[in-house]
Amino acid sequence: MVNSIIDVRNLVKTYGEVRAVDNVSLQIEHGEVFGILGPNGAGKTTILEMIEGLRRPDHGAIMIDGLSVWPNPNRIKHLIGVQLQTTALMDFLTVREMVRLFASFYGIHMSRVKADELLDKVALVEKANSMINQLSGGQQQRLSIALALVNDPKVLFLDEPTTGLDPQARRKLWMVVEGINAEGKTIVLTTHYMEEAQVLCSRIAIMDHGRAIALDTPVGLINSLGADAKITFTAKHPLDIEKLARTPSVSQVSQFDLSYSFYTSDVQESITNLLGLANSQSVKIENLNVAGANLEDVFLHLTGRGLRE
Ligand SMILES: Nc1ncnc2c1ncn2[C@@H]1O[C@H](COP(=O)(O)OP(=O)(O)OP(=O)(O)O)[C@@H](O)[C@H]1O
Ligand SMILES: [Mg+2]
Repeated sequence: MVNSIIDVRNLVKTYGEVRAVDNVSLQIEHGEVFGILGPNGAGKTTILEMIEGLRRPDHGAIMIDGLSVWPNPNRIKHLIGVQLQTTALMDFLTVREMVRLFASFYGIHMSRVKADELLDKVALVEKANSMINQLSGGQQQRLSIALALVNDPKVLFLDEPTTGLDPQARRKLWMVVEGINAEGKTIVLTTHYMEEAQVLCSRIAIMDHGRAIALDTPVGLINSLGADAKITFTAKHPLDIEKLARTPSVSQVSQFDLSYSFYTSDVQESITNLLGLANSQSVKIENLNVAGANLEDVFLHLTGRGLRE
């Protein structure tokens, strides 16, 4: 791809015996919100920090906007904004002072008006005069996004921006990310929340044990399952679902005690068959649940494990 803003080729990073990043290649296009989704220890932070120029790869090549990141990452500093851990912030400054101080690190004299414009983008303008230690967790995360934007970068990197936030704060941050992306900035984020990846990202690389095991749009990843929905239920007594399992629309049947689950590409047919089986065996079915397939199911399908296990 000629036009990729980020081009990662055959990236490898090893820590002793651990292949933290194991031959990963990916291209990220201008204007994308690109997600790196994976469980703890998958290598998400390692790959992000190599792209940001903070960790040196063992092998491989990384280009940002046509410039090689390594061996001299200073060349790409002006292109990128990196969200820092909020714990590093100085508590004795106000929010606006912090933004202006950060701008000064880039040699930028930022006026109050400009600082407040930036704070408005992260929905923090009403907190401009608040001390940093008075911010909530979600507000601190949004402030750290503002700080990553002081140099007006082309690419913004967010490493697990919503971990530890409550659902409301998480949604607010999603809106902020969408707004920044709507202004044309490319965003690369890591997450282990499948819903976050599904809502925000144009494309997602699913990582596991240092490898990118799938890369596609959220819809493309879910379609790759070949199933529309996951059906789960419990039975009062053991149910023989052998016949159901042999239906072509049904896959990945599993049973644990009296809890059953399977995927189907034909919900109506499967439910009808299931109820027919239950009736013919005089078994009562409870807690019948039909859920649209999601990225968690994709991960489970690819690895045999859940994202949070
Ligand atoms: N500096 C380091 N020294 C030794 N091992 C490391 C180092 N950094 C990461 N690792 C190992 O590399 C692997 C990938 O770690 P990484 O932090 O990239 O995962 P992650 O996907 O970001 O996980 P999390 O979701 O927990 O943040 C892990 O096995 C980790 O223990
Ligand atoms: Mg990490």
